[in-house]
Amino acid sequence: MPLLEVKNLVTEFNTEHGWVQALRGVSFHIDAGETVGLVGESGCGKSVTARSVMRLIPDPPGKVASGEVLFEGTDLLKLSDSKMRTIRGNDISMIFQDPMTSLNPVLRIGYQLEEALKLHQKELTAEDRRNVALEMMQKVRIPSPEQRLREYPHQLSGGMRQRVMIAMALACRPRLLLADEPTTALDVTVQAQILDLMKELREDIGTAIMLITHDLGVVAEVCDRVLVMYLGQVVEAGSVREVFSNPQHPYTLSLMKSIPKIRGHREPGKRLDTIRGIVPSLSQIPKGCSFAARCDFAQDKCLEERPELKFSSELRGQRCFFPQGDQ
Ligand SMILES: Nc1ncnc2c1ncn2[C@@H]1O[C@H](COP(=O)(O)OP(=O)(O)OP(=O)(O)O)[C@@H](O)[C@H]1O
Ligand SMILES: [Mg+2]
Repeated sequence: MPLLEVKNLVTEFNTEHGWVQALRGVSFHIDAGETVGLVGESGCGKSVTARSVMRLIPDPPGKVASGEVLFEGTDLLKLSDSKMRTIRGNDISMIFQDPMTSLNPVLRIGYQLEEALKLHQKELTAEDRRNVALEMMQKVRIPSPEQRLREYPHQLSGGMRQRVMIAMALACRPRLLLADEPTTALDVTVQAQILDLMKELREDIGTAIMLITHDLGVVAEVCDRVLVMYLGQVVEAGSVREVFSNPQHPYTLSLMKSIPKIRGHREPGKRLDTIRGIVPSLSQIPKGCSFAARCDFAQDKCLEERPELKFSSELRGQRCFFPQGDQ
């Protein structure tokens, strides 16, 4: 049984144009200990996917309208709020895109770490908690950790805050970590350190990671598998090796072309914004394939019918009537 299995997830927001679907039937799975990358242009639904899994979609204006989020076979969408709170932080942790939104500005770092531990590891004594907090700060290589524990979030640099977020997310040794752009805001050296850190913690704790990023170089470096999203759907899935060496969906192909080099001289942090045409608005989803208007390979059928995500093997799939590359 996969650690996480998301089936046909539909998440909607009530906007000035009425209800729109930010996720239009998202399905994927993550096995224990695996690192899966989630990529795609801004607005395609990466954060909404992670937040839906965590049941942290703001309501209003949003709601998970249908689908299943099976964590070790249990549908999280059906749990009571209190059961869900136990899962959050204990079994599944999330690193948010903006670390300032998830750290409390008026509380010391140490207090926040210890509170997280108090909530999720009830067997620890106050002294244990202090020790574990210090240990976590050392693990994420924050210099002068004792002093930093006494400081407030604003006294830390962006990179350090991000490390604290990782420390916090991992303090409870979650089985699954949802990391939403954990390195995008950081400079290149710090980015590399944080990624090494995540790799190390994965080896240490065996945490499975869903890594959301704009940076295909990062995916190539740390992920086992990758999911490519476009306009609220997964359009391609496969091992990093397969998807990078043989992209089949025209959208993935354009993504690959939009970065000059994956290995070697990659440009860290480069955003994927160089594909021609614009992403349709969620309130005007086209009738056929949602990528057709921007696609070099589109034919009449693509404007009329919606392709399904088709799997050629257990892990390799794409959503296109006329896939490219080797089949
Ligand atoms: N609170 C909200 N109210 C209305 N629409 C929302 C809300 N949150 C997200 N959306 C919409 O859902 C869609 C997906 O947003 P999401 O934040 O998941 O994108 P993303 O892939 O994470 O983008 P980025 O790479 O910029 O972080 C977008 O069209 C966005 O406008
Ligand atoms: Mg996002």
